[in-house]
Amino acid sequence: MRVLVTGGAGYIGSHVCVELLNAGHEVIIFDSFINSDLGVPDRISSIVGKSPLTVKADLRDRAALDDCFSTHRPDAVIHFAALKSIGESVTNPLSYYDVNVVGTIDLLGCMKRYDCNLLVFSSSATVYGQPESCPIDEQAPVSATNPYGRTKLFVEQIINDAKVADPRLFAINLRYFNPVGAHQSGLIGESPSGTPNNLVPFVAQVAAGLRPRVSVFGDDYATPDGTGVRDYIHVSDLATAHVLALEQLPQLSDLQAMNLGTGRGHSVLEVIATFADISGRPIEYQIAQRRPGDVAECWADPMLALTRLGWRARFDLEQMCKDAWRWQLGSGNGEERT
Ligand code: NAD
Ligand code: UD1
Repeated sequence: MRVLVTGGAGYIGSHVCVELLNAGHEVIIFDSFINSDLGVPDRISSIVGKSPLTVKADLRDRAALDDCFSTHRPDAVIHFAALKSIGESVTNPLSYYDVNVVGTIDLLGCMKRYDCNLLVFSSSATVYGQPESCPIDEQAPVSATNPYGRTKLFVEQIINDAKVADPRLFAINLRYFNPVGAHQSGLIGESPSGTPNNLVPFVAQVAAGLRPRVSVFGDDYATPDGTGVRDYIHVSDLATAHVLALEQLPQLSDLQAMNLGTGRGHSVLEVIATFADISGRPIEYQIAQRRPGDVAECWADPMLALTRLGWRARFDLEQMCKDAWRWQLGSGNGEERT
């Protein structure tokens, strides 16, 4: 297939491009590079030995999007392009609705005009809000507590409505739990700008001596060690699932959404201990206040992906930390502590 990957230069998208090219598909990256590096397509080529085509443009630039469809005539779209900072979505909600929601509506319109009927969308476990219980399956109630989460909920609904209106459209909303790690080549990974919000990039920077210690947001949750529990999933496992979902989309048309997680939860302290172990560096931490909006635990029931895609996560927490650490060192940020 010829696959248009919006946001294909980003963290998850770049790993998916690698797996698409490895599986023999053609790839067109459509990305504004607002949150990614212009060198990423070349690094994808170095890993796979095949190059993606790249279009540098904003999703909201309707002429550029139309031109991309008319020039490349994609058979399918995997849609990653979005803004993803929860805090920023609270202070700047209109940009989030514009990029994430209006951008997707423009994309769906373009797909319809060019008779492109296969779509995989990046949703998030954030749509489960405060889960009533774990593991969380796809039937669990959904809700959102911030504009970013609402954009994911709205877009899921928009896509499901578009499917009802047009039976030729095959689409699925994939709900990621906590993507971490990096490609084993060390050539692509996550590059948070400024202070990382997420745990694993923060821990990696502490291990590298770039930050003094990790603040553990709360140790009084009702979890085995009192710290928050999450379902961390290796980004390369996520990538494999996208290729399988894309290739089987027509058979998944009855589904509205699918979880992508490992089905296992790990606490903050477990992540810190595992990272210290594999990096061989001490990782200092201090217990801090709970972070507003955080839930005690969030982990997936991954059975639907197993039964419908034949997919299950292969990599464990140790491998996720190893690959995150290799990426941290390779991206030039692994200096010894002074
Ligand atoms: P990312 O920021 O690394 O990648 C997004 C890419 O989209 C970037 O390359 C960015 O330049 C591009 N982009 C942003 N706005 C654009 C626009 N208007 N036009 C064109 N390109 C644009 O993020 P990621 O972590 O790879 O996330 C990819 C998708 O997965 C997002 O939709 C995100 O909401 C979703 N998601 C991510 C996580 C996570 O933890 N990383 C979890 C759940 C869901
Ligand atoms: C966060 C987002 C979620 C998004 C996900 C993407 C919030 C409230 N939720 O989820 O919407 O889909 O990232 O990966 O921001 N922690 C610390 N210290 C830190 C950082 C995190 O103790 O410096 C803890 C958190 O309290 C949590 C765990 O580590 O228990 C994981 O945090 P994080 O990586 O930010 O992911 P989520 O909170 O699950």
